[in-house]
Amino acid sequence: MTGSGKSIVLHNLIISLLMKQAPDKMHLYLIDPKSTEFAFYRGLNMCTMLSDPQQANVLLNGLCEEMDRRYSILQANGCRDIDSFNTKFPAYPMRREIVVIDELSDLMYMSGKSVEASIVRIAQKARACGIHLIIATQYPVAKVVTGLIKANMPTKICLRVGTVTNSMVALDMPGGEKLMGHGDMLFLPNGSLSPSRLQGGFVTEDEINNIVWALMKNQ
Ligand SMILES: Nc1ncnc2c1ncn2[C@@H]1O[C@H](COP(=O)(O)OP(=O)(O)OP(=O)(O)O)[C@@H](O)[C@H]1O
Ligand SMILES: [Mg+2]
Repeated sequence: MTGSGKSIVLHNLIISLLMKQAPDKMHLYLIDPKSTEFAFYRGLNMCTMLSDPQQANVLLNGLCEEMDRRYSILQANGCRDIDSFNTKFPAYPMRREIVVIDELSDLMYMSGKSVEASIVRIAQKARACGIHLIIATQYPVAKVVTGLIKANMPTKICLRVGTVTNSMVALDMPGGEKLMGHGDMLFLPNGSLSPSRLQGGFVTEDEINNIVWALMKNQ
């Protein structure tokens, strides 16, 4: 629902990643059709901002090709995943590519089939080669979060939703409709059968600005 705390969850994830990872080890692609939510991060070299759904589609297609390229490199060098590759070849590390989508419905309504196909391919097998997706939506309905997308996203967070049906789309179980809003969430990690109820941390605009400012001074 609006006001449930989606954007704050995304900011928390983005900030944690920015503060922990060296710039040559990670890149964030922030997809935000409104171009306002992620405006904080505009000056950072570690972030690419995309607001046009068509551009986002091109990016996702490109990452599928990058995934295939990386898999052949891993295979040719006898490595299981990006971590074993980076340990074996520290001089040529692979960077982690992380895509954050603030509102999936905008992309699905523009170019649904193509976006769905790329998301599913990346979600199915890109993790081992360092390509990751974080996808949010205010519309947990089957048209946006299709069965294929849902089945392939390993970890799920449900903030407050309006109806049991929405909760079923998000988590495959009821409960989301009973949450309090403002960062109250059900967290279902990869492989887990029952969710944990958590309260997300709060982060203010000033705090985000201070962190981005400190990172910009050092880049
Ligand atoms: N973890 C939290 N702890 C306390 N309050 C929170 C938390 N997350 C969100 N809130 C409160 O809820 C408000 C809305 O949060 P947020 O902007 O993240 O919602 P949203 O789901 O992205 O809404 P929108 O649909 O408008 O994009 C915040 O301004 C804040 O007051
Ligand atoms: Mg928001």
